[in-house]
Amino acid sequence: MTDTAGTGALPVEGVPAARVLDEIRALRAADRPTHGGRLFAYVYDPGVAGLDELAQAAHAESAHVNGLDPTAFPSLLAMENAVVAAAARLLGGGPGTSAPDVVGSVTSGGTESLILAVKAARDARPDLAEPRIVVPVSGHAAFAKAAHYLRVALDPVPVDPVTLRPAVADVAAAIRPETVLVVASAPSYAHGVVDPVAEIAAVAAAAGVRCHVDACFGGWTLPWLRRLGTPVPPFDFTVPGVTSISVDLHKYAYAPKGVSVLLHRDAGLRAPQFFAYADWPGYTMVNPVIASTRSGGPIAAAYATLRHLGEDGYLRLAALTRDAVAGLADAVRAVDGLRLVAEPESTVVCFTADDPGLDLFVLVDELTARGWHTQPQLAYAGLPASVHLTVTAAVAPRVAEFGPALAEAAAAARAAGPVVLPPELLALAGSLTPEALTPDLIAGLAAGLGLGAGAAPDRMAAVNTLLQAAPVRLRERLLVEFVGLLQRPAW
Ligand SMILES: Cc1ncc(COP(=O)(O)O)c(C=O)c1O
Repeated sequence: MTDTAGTGALPVEGVPAARVLDEIRALRAADRPTHGGRLFAYVYDPGVAGLDELAQAAHAESAHVNGLDPTAFPSLLAMENAVVAAAARLLGGGPGTSAPDVVGSVTSGGTESLILAVKAARDARPDLAEPRIVVPVSGHAAFAKAAHYLRVALDPVPVDPVTLRPAVADVAAAIRPETVLVVASAPSYAHGVVDPVAEIAAVAAAAGVRCHVDACFGGWTLPWLRRLGTPVPPFDFTVPGVTSISVDLHKYAYAPKGVSVLLHRDAGLRAPQFFAYADWPGYTMVNPVIASTRSGGPIAAAYATLRHLGEDGYLRLAALTRDAVAGLADAVRAVDGLRLVAEPESTVVCFTADDPGLDLFVLVDELTARGWHTQPQLAYAGLPASVHLTVTAAVAPRVAEFGPALAEAAAAARAAGPVVLPPELLALAGSLTPEALTPDLIAGLAAGLGLGAGAAPDRMAAVNTLLQAAPVRLRERLLVEFVGLLQRPAW
């Protein structure tokens, strides 16, 4: 009998449910492990028994509910308002605080929150033909994306190579009459350091400009760490001049993906975030966020996660994370040739190599081969290449194993030696302009690096070395081309 089901997404005859699930599980086997504390990026795992099941059940309850119209589905509005209130309270807003009128929206993620913060700031100043935003280079790349999508000019501010923070005087100097938004991170993703938010907000306020605090990464950890006694500088609505804050619940609130909260100090500041349209024959449309139809699943799952873990749960998870960070930092300090880029002050451990015989990109591959998945960061603007570890509570029980694995991987990386790309390839990467890239050149480069259609190589050190040799604009173009090779229809 012929198998009419085939392997494609749309078989001629439908496939039984159990088999479909088996197929998905088989595909998932190739993925990095989302649970178990060995993946230091992309996922946030609290390691709490039963939490996944609860979130999945809550997600399923509301998956078909549509956030397009809050009057049709009051359940979603109620959960969204509850989640926004929880985030606002945690971040210094709400009744009885200096920011009693905080309002907010649930978005699909940090990037959407940041795009909307920029949109609100831009649309509050329709008088400006060429609005601009001031962003430290350590700010998340999503601000550049927002600037690109919204045609807002980006004024980057350098960061000090030692503190990894912008100088407040440089931020002040970057503010122009056309500036609509100044940004601070709490903390930055790359290095996990908290910007001088109070000082940045003060210079923004003095210029009459909004100040957004990107707490997408740290907004749900810094408050608990502070309660546990970690020194955390003021970064939330208690700081005068902070006009909006973003915090991602799909990061350290440990909710399934698809949930972030964008808060504004008051409804007037939020108003230009909305889009309403009545100039067509269809339903009257009003969208607080970018998506129009949006599933209630992620909001319900986040609501369930917050209620189930509660303050005591998050405090416990923050304590585990804090201890894991300290243990991982010690493991880095114990390896000759490795150096912490910054003393950890939040939930990131970031290290570099001072020894030219120890190639960080090879080290990352050696760690991967041992089942530890870390994130390489390319050298940039005087900052060295580094390895980033996002640390979550599930890492705590693994810390004792990480130290020996890191030492072993470092020894293996030293023994293997640094990546040596052909000199002509390196020269090409250093001199090519994005415009000079032809399809043949791209195909040749990809083949040389082992990047085939639909597959990435096991070892990425050569790819990272080539990208690092390229100027920023060429890096971007190569990334687009390489990922374009991966995203091909599976005919
Ligand atoms: C500080 C910060 N801002 C924004 C983002 C973007 O978030 P998302 O990936 O949810 O769009 C991230 C993601 O890591 C982040 O760390």
